[in-house]
Parts: sequence; C-alpha cells; structure tokens
Amino acid sequence: MTSEQHEPALWALIPAAGVGRRMGADRPKQFLRLGARSVLEYTLDIFLEHPAIRGVALVLGGGVDRDAVDLSGAGGRLFIVTGGEERADSVRNGLAFLAQRGRPDDWVLVHDAARPCLPPADLDHLIEVLRDDPVGGLLVAASTDTLKLEGVEGRVERTLDRSRVWRALTPQMFRLQALRAALDAALASGVAVTDEASAMEFVGERPLLVEGSPMNIKITRPEDLDVAEVYLNRQQRLRSGR
Ligand code: C5P
Repeated sequence: MTSEQHEPALWALIPAAGVGRRMGADRPKQFLRLGARSVLEYTLDIFLEHPAIRGVALVLGGGVDRDAVDLSGAGGRLFIVTGGEERADSVRNGLAFLAQRGRPDDWVLVHDAARPCLPPADLDHLIEVLRDDPVGGLLVAASTDTLKLEGVEGRVERTLDRSRVWRALTPQMFRLQALRAALDAALASGVAVTDEASAMEFVGERPLLVEGSPMNIKITRPEDLDVAEVYLNRQQRLRSGR
C-alpha cells in the first residue's frame, strides 16, 4: 500500500431515537433495563469494546435526557447525534455527522440500539466477509417458519421458497458516502426505507447476505426482554466456558 492509499476506517452508527410504541412502557425500549444495565448499554459496549471500530455515533431522540447515557467508559470514541422522525432520518443524521469525521469510502456499521444480543463473533464475521466487498451487506437469519404471501381478503396468494428468504438483521455495513447517497435518493422518491440495504437496493446495488445468529433479536414487545435476558446469560456462559 502506498502513502497515497489508506485502509478505510470502520464506524458504528446506532439509531436509538425511536419511541417504541409497541412496547407500551414508560420509556423507549432502548432505555429499559435488562438486569443491572439498560438495553442501550449492552448494545453500545459491543461496539465500544471492538478494537477495529474508530468511533460510534449514537443517535438519540430530541427529548432524551443525555445525562442518562453513561459516556465515562467510551474513551472519547462515542459521539451523540440528534435523531429524526423515522429510523431512516435518524440514520441520515448520523451519517451526516460521520461524514465530517471520516472519508467517503470508510465503512459504517448501522446497528439498532434495540438489538443488545448481537454476538461479537457475528460482528467480527460480518467485518471479515465484507471488508473488501465492493458494495457491503448485512447480517441475516434463516426463516424457520414456512412463509406465506398474503393476497386479497386475507387469503394466501402463494407460499414463498423458504430456502431463499432471509430475515434482515443488523449490523448492516456499507460505505459512508454510498449509503448517504442511496438514503437520500430513496427518501426523495418517497420509498419506505426500513433498513439500509433497502436504500442500497433502491439505487441498484445488491448487498451481500451474511448469515448470523437468530439470537440477535430486536426488542419490540415486552416478552422480548425476557428472551433477551436468556440469550445474554447464555452468551456470558459460553464466553466463560461454563
Ligand atoms: O422502531 P424500530 O424497532 O424499527 O426501531 C429500530 C431502531 O431504530 C431502534 O433502535 C430505534 O430506537 C431506532 N429509531 C430511531 N429513530 C426513529 C425511529 C427508530 O433511531 N425515528
């Protein structure tokens, strides 16, 4: 590598500005507790503890008490950004912030705050597989259920081929400038963008599917908190070899 070239940096972007209406709790789901710590703290640690990640942009809602987020262990690698109306707007704000610090071809790993059970090994695997990829990609999980496509009047139109259908998880890893441009284009056209890959697909790219663990759930409903606690305990047991 000559002095003109550089290794693209890796950034994490954590959208955490949702209100979590489906949870029906007194606060957004990322601030609910899982034992001694909040969902968000578990999620943040996965990225802050990763040696290859240069910095983490945490996107919070305007009404959130920022003092409630413990930045003490972050070592200057955590940056707070204000979120937007929809998840895609929050991601866009985070990308605009990172664009001031990083280079256009740096990698950004976008990961939902509400997914605290991402196994660190899955994060390593995603980075390893995509590091030299021209487009980027996302973690996915297999569907264990048979999937039906709804037609009219609530009746089955057809059964999907389960072997080719995947559930999109996060992180989703794309180049900073390419993702920014894709999100801008998709949002300007009024397309519903619920993940980064769909914005990339909108501009004609084909993100790579990287199989990850189904333990990487998104906390959405109250019962998901119990499941997350079981998975986190399991991961801790596996790490300590018990
Ligand atoms: O609502 P949903 O479960 O899809 O949210 C996924 C992630 O996006 C959550 O971490 C949530 O906090 C975040 N989000 C956001 N800004 C919004 C809506 C959701 O950062 N306006």
